[in-house]
Amino acid sequence: MPHDYESCLAAAGYLAERTGMRPEIALVLGSGLGSLADEVEGATVIPYGEIPGFLLSTAPDHAGKLVAGRIAGRPVAVMSGRFHCYEGYSMAESSAYVRVLRLWGVKSLILTNAAGSINPDNRPGDLMLLTDHIKLQKESPLAGPNDTRFGPRFFDMTRCYDPDYQALARRCAAALGIPLKEGVYIYFAGPQFETPAEIRAARLLGADAVGMSTVPEVITAAHCGLRTVAISCLTNMAAGVEPGPVTGEEVNRTAASASARFRQLLRRMVEMMDV
Ligand code: HPA
Repeated sequence: MPHDYESCLAAAGYLAERTGMRPEIALVLGSGLGSLADEVEGATVIPYGEIPGFLLSTAPDHAGKLVAGRIAGRPVAVMSGRFHCYEGYSMAESSAYVRVLRLWGVKSLILTNAAGSINPDNRPGDLMLLTDHIKLQKESPLAGPNDTRFGPRFFDMTRCYDPDYQALARRCAAALGIPLKEGVYIYFAGPQFETPAEIRAARLLGADAVGMSTVPEVITAAHCGLRTVAISCLTNMAAGVEPGPVTGEEVNRTAASASARFRQLLRRMVEMMDV
């Protein structure tokens, strides 16, 4: 979608009018995690195609709708389905919705995704808090002219995974008795899963999990001053970590089987989150 200020403002204005609300917290649901949208009470459901300038989400198991309403009494927007570079979108296009959320009034972003586990100590079904990320691609969602209405040309990434929100995730998980792993997420553009050699290289670089989303959004969010926390559902062991192929079916199956726990954790985080 267009990522210029005026286009993002038009989409934000549409959402404010259509929903009659300005949510402070937005959640983005990754592959196989769409059922989390059922948590929303008093929901206004808006298919992406109805939002001016929004892209269509073509990934399997990504519903492509924005659900606005309340979770634990707090006004939220839930993005059920997101956009990926493997769908043919640039990083700027695929993460422009983050700017729309910001202009709509959102202050805090909770990103979820499905990821492959590079770290052999973690298992499919585990949840992993992102403490940092690695992007090897030269593309950035912020390449090109900078609009200072969103943020400065050069901007800090040392706190792009908000430390207070990381602490919140740990506290909520502990209180619920949900094990929460932590680690570094490495971005690969896909749509092919990685080769075993790529995963061995990623492990040497310090990555614990691999996926095809989240990083463009985290960069865009850091630029426009959204506080962000991201959690992966580790849906499979990454290529070559264990024998056997990596499949989309396994990703969706594991994500669905972990979704009740994930949902509980997210609900508690929304309830307790300072914005
Ligand atoms: N690699 C990349 N993306 C993924 C994976 C994986 O192994 N699992 C879920 N998303």
